[in-house]
Amino acid sequence: MKGIILAAGRGTRLYPMTRPVCKPLLPVYDKPLIYYPLSVLIQAGIREVLVIVPPGEEGTFYTLLRDGMQLGMNIHYTVQPVARGIADALLIGRDFLDGDDVCLVLGDNIFWAEGFADMLKRAAAGNPGATVFGCRVDDPRPFGVVEFGPDGRAISIEEKPERPKSNYVVPGLYFYSGEALDTAAGLTPSARGELEITDVNLAFLRQGRLRVIPLDDNYVWMDAGNADSMLSAAQTIRDLQRNGTYVGCIEEEAWREGWIDRAHLRKLGGELKMTAYGQHLLEL
Ligand code: G1P
Repeated sequence: MKGIILAAGRGTRLYPMTRPVCKPLLPVYDKPLIYYPLSVLIQAGIREVLVIVPPGEEGTFYTLLRDGMQLGMNIHYTVQPVARGIADALLIGRDFLDGDDVCLVLGDNIFWAEGFADMLKRAAAGNPGATVFGCRVDDPRPFGVVEFGPDGRAISIEEKPERPKSNYVVPGLYFYSGEALDTAAGLTPSARGELEITDVNLAFLRQGRLRVIPLDDNYVWMDAGNADSMLSAAQTIRDLQRNGTYVGCIEEEAWREGWIDRAHLRKLGGELKMTAYGQHLLEL
């Protein structure tokens, strides 16, 4: 399985901050936003990752994450020339994926839970075609909304409905088998001019091959798309880290996966030793 991070959003809802710096590189508390989705792919055990970035930004992302070898993985970069929607990421990633299964994560989604790495690996292993998640929120209207039947199976998904059929929304983390690319290739743009990931999920739902895993309230899911959500994400992460739980710590996760050894982790921590983040790595 390979991983794709769609980090191509310019982040117009964060202007003027995102005029010179695109959204995935902005800080959320003590690290750039993209560290959080990258840490999710690492926890899923995925070592081959494509990062899709805005035009002209490959070099900036490379300065931050390089080729991934420092984490024992491979990170590649490509651009999304026009913002054509989330499903477009599968089409852009066609050559990179080369028929493999994929885990797609959005560059502004932050996840955390105890035991998350195990849950992700189980989700990847038992994927019937498409596996997505369901998170309970107070206002589901800005999201993809999933409705469950009496047996707990998903029966509908609607993108940004005016009258949501449930409070469960689909966060930006998706596991697909290789055929999802053909599904994405057959889509027509929605009213907002995008290739909707919800339409890919609906195609698998119609075939009876969509699994929606509800995440309970122990899961933290945050979508850092505007100033308020960035601030509350930063506060949540600070609180977790003050209690000793680091979120989005890519070096720690790579070490936990066994991709880098203790000496290498110490070297990476040493490079950041002037920060609490670096001290955390050294303490590990
Ligand atoms: C997108 C998806 C939506 C999903 C959300 C998660 O929304 O279209 O289904 O629930 O990401 O962050 P967008 O960010 O395009 O508004």
